[in-house]
Amino acid sequence: MTVHAAALQRIESLRSLIRYHNRRYYQLDDPEISDPEYDRLMQELSTLEQTHPGLVTPDSPTQRVGAAPLEKFIPFRHDTPMLSLANAFSEEDIREFDGRIKRLLGSTEEIRFVAEPKLDGVAVNLIYLRGVFTAGSTRGDGAVGEDITQNLKTIQALPLVIDPGSGIAAEVPDRMEIRGEVYIEREAFKGLNRRRLDSGEPPFANPRNAAAGSLRQLDSRITARRPLNIFCYAVGQVLGRRFQSQAEVLNTLAHWGFPVNPHIEKAENIETCIAYFRHMDDRRAALPYEIDGIVVKVDEMALQEELGAVSRSPRWAIACKFKAAQETTVIEDILVQVGRTGVLTPVAVMRPVQVGGVLVSRATLHNQDEIDKKDIRIGDTVMVQRAGDVIPEVVKVIESKRTGMEKIFILPGACPVCGSEVVRLAGEAAHRCIGLACPAQIREHIRHFASRGAMDIEGLGEKLVAQIVEAALIKDPADIFYLTHDRLIGLERMAEKSAANLTAAIERSKKPALEKLIYALGIRHVGERTARILAGEFRTLEKLTTATTEDLLTIRDIGPEVAASTTKFFHEPTNLKVIEKLRLAGVKPLKMADGPRTETAISSKSFVFTGTLTQMTRIQARELVESRGG
Ligand code: IVH
Repeated sequence: MTVHAAALQRIESLRSLIRYHNRRYYQLDDPEISDPEYDRLMQELSTLEQTHPGLVTPDSPTQRVGAAPLEKFIPFRHDTPMLSLANAFSEEDIREFDGRIKRLLGSTEEIRFVAEPKLDGVAVNLIYLRGVFTAGSTRGDGAVGEDITQNLKTIQALPLVIDPGSGIAAEVPDRMEIRGEVYIEREAFKGLNRRRLDSGEPPFANPRNAAAGSLRQLDSRITARRPLNIFCYAVGQVLGRRFQSQAEVLNTLAHWGFPVNPHIEKAENIETCIAYFRHMDDRRAALPYEIDGIVVKVDEMALQEELGAVSRSPRWAIACKFKAAQETTVIEDILVQVGRTGVLTPVAVMRPVQVGGVLVSRATLHNQDEIDKKDIRIGDTVMVQRAGDVIPEVVKVIESKRTGMEKIFILPGACPVCGSEVVRLAGEAAHRCIGLACPAQIREHIRHFASRGAMDIEGLGEKLVAQIVEAALIKDPADIFYLTHDRLIGLERMAEKSAANLTAAIERSKKPALEKLIYALGIRHVGERTARILAGEFRTLEKLTTATTEDLLTIRDIGPEVAASTTKFFHEPTNLKVIEKLRLAGVKPLKMADGPRTETAISSKSFVFTGTLTQMTRIQARELVESRGG
C-alpha cells in the first residue's frame, strides 16, 4: 500500500470512529470514551489531513470544529428579510386568518395549507453556494443578523455539502438561503445541565436559552460540545430554481439531506389545520423537543406571492400558539434538595394534578427569594403551569383560598443531608451547605479536589470518583489518602496496574504546594488566584484556618465575599475534621520559600505591632519579621 493509500484508509476509519462517538455523545448522551481520548482522535485526523490536504473533504468532522475563537460576531445582511409571524391565540383567530386570505384573494374556494409544528428554538439563515454550506447567521432584526457560520458547522445534523440525490430534485441551485430552527432535545438538555452542574456552571433555564447561548459562543469548540439540532422549514432567496409550493420546498429539502420535521402535514382546508392544532397540543408532551404551537402556511407559492407581507409578517402564514396549560392544586409540603454543588433548592410537593397531559406533583421553587416574592406557604392553593417548559412552575398563590392555617417556609440553617452550616453569601440568591464531607456534594468535592490545578491526582477522573464513592470507599476528600491497593482492586474493571498507578499518584500528591491544597478545599469564591494570595500571606494551613475575617480583610485583593466565605468554611467543625484527617494521613504542603537561616540582628527577638500599619498588612509585617529570624 502506498503512503497515500494508507493515509486515506486511516483517515476514513478515523472519520467513521469520530462520527460514531459523536452519536454516542450528542444523540445518546452516553459517551464510550473520555474527552481526552476523543480529542486525541480528532487531533490525529486533523494532523493527517494537514499532511494530505488533498484528502480533506467538506464533510470531514474536522470541518465542523477547530476554528480559532472570534473576537466578536460580524454583522450579516440577509439576502431577503427574515420575517416573523403574526399570532393566533384561539381557534377563532385561525378561522379569521382563513377568512382574511379568502377576502384578499377575492375567492371562496378552499385554501390548501401546510401545517407544521412551531419549534421553540432559534431561527437561523443558511447560505449554500453550489451546494456547499458557506455561511450562516442569526435572525437579528430581520434584515441584519450575526455571522455564526463556525458555530452552525458544528451541528452534526446540518449537511455541509448537499447530496444532490437523484430524480426531479437533482439540480442544486447556485445560491440559496435556507431557513430553519436550531433546538436542543429535552433529554439532551437535561444531560447538558447535569454536566454544567457537575462542573460548577449555572444550568440553563430551558432548551431554547441553551440553544441560543450555544450559538452565541465566540469559541466554536464550546458550541461543538453542545447537543444542537436543527429542522429546516423554508427557503429565502433561491437563484436558479423555482418552487411551486411549500410542500415541494419541504420535500426537496428532505431529499437533499436537510432535517425536516416528520410531523408536518398537508391540510385541505382550515378545519383540517384546526384539527391538527388540537392533535399537536395533545401530542406535544410526548415529542422529544419543545414546540409552542403550530405554524399554518398557504401551500401554493403563487398565492403566497399574491398575498405578500404587511410590516414584518407575511399574510400567508400564522403562528397558532398553544395555551400554557394551567391547573390549581395544593402545596402539601416543601422539601429541600441539596445539589451537587451544595445549593439548597426548595421543592414544592403538590397534590398530583394533570397539567397539559402530564401528571405534576412537584415544582421547584428555586430559592428563598422566589418563595418570599410569591409568598408561597405550605397548605396554599396555587396555580401551576407547564408553559411548554420541561419543569412545571408555581405561577401564583390563590389568596382567596387561604384559611389562616398555612405555614410560612424558611430554608433551614443546617444542611438536611449532613447537618453542616448553611450560608447565603452576599450577592447570591442561593443558600449553600458548606460541608466538605456532605454526601450530596461528595462526588463534586472529590472531583475538584483531585483535579489539575488542585491536588492533581492523576488517574482519579470523574468516572472513577463516581465508582469509588458508589462503593462507599470515600466519604470525604481526606479518605482518598486512606485508599489502599487492596480496596481499589476490589472495584469493577480495576486492573492491578491501574490500582498501582493510582496509589502511586495519591502518594505523590501528598506534598502539594500550599496554594494547591487551599484551592482543592473548594472554598466558595476561592479560585486558583485567590488561593495563591492566601498561601502567600499565611504560609501555613494552620494560620489560614485560624484567620479572622479582619485578618483577611487587611490583605489587598481579598474582598468581603472571600473573607466571609473563608472564615465560615474554617469555622465549620466537620471541615476542620477533614483537614485534621488530611494531616494525619501525611498530607503536608511544601514549605514556602524560607527566609535566611543565619543569625540576623533580630534573631529570636519578639515584635508587637500597634496602631495602623500603612506600608503593609499586619500579616505581611509578621512574615517580614519571621523571614528575618524574629
Ligand atoms: S416559518 C415567514 N416555520 O417562529 C415565515 N417559523 O415568529 C418564517 N418557527 O422566527 C418562519 N417553527 O423562529 C416557520 N415551522 C416553522 C417554525 C417557525 C418555529 C419560528 C421561527 C420564526 C418564528 C416566527
